[in-house]
Amino acid sequence: MNGQVKYLLKHLIYSSRPFGFDQNILNGIMISSVNNNQRDQITGALICRSDLYLQYLEGPTESIDETFNKIKHDDRHVEVKILKEGVHAKRLFPKWAMRDDPVRSWMLSREEVDSGALNRISSSDALNIFKRHSKILLTR
Ligand SMILES: Cc1cc2nc3c(=O)[nH]c(=O)nc-3n(C[C@H](O)[C@H](O)[C@H](O)COP(=O)(O)O)c2cc1C
Repeated sequence: MNGQVKYLLKHLIYSSRPFGFDQNILNGIMISSVNNNQRDQITGALICRSDLYLQYLEGPTESIDETFNKIKHDDRHVEVKILKEGVHAKRLFPKWAMRDDPVRSWMLSREEVDSGALNRISSSDALNIFKRHSKILLTR
């Protein structure tokens, strides 16, 4: 998908806490994400750990709103909390229907998450996490 587009793209970042977490659950989430997102012109990244999901979604406003509406009612996670919503002219993850690699080096510790770090994270910090994330090259 082109990084540069002619219309504004909505982006949305949320955090949540996994409810049940294993490779099967993750595979299921990733399969439906990649299939649906390709159809809906959505790209983004999902940071996943046993104590935390952090997802960046970008695409046409209607697609993002409809998809997030499904995501927030999904019983595979709880405490879904929007950290940032906005518009950009350019995609951060143009080649990724949903990038799922766990990047641990800069992430919050389990103790920080348990003590409510996600309630304190600012919207610009949340965006910076994904800006940094998008610059890490993966060969796949
Ligand atoms: C952490 C998490 C992230 C998800 N991300 C996406 C996503 O990016 N796109 C998507 O279509 N569904 C995503 N889902 C799955 C949706 O909640 C929902 O199960 C799915 O969209 C339903 O697809 P269907 O209508 O094809 O059955 C996610 C679920 C979880 C728990």
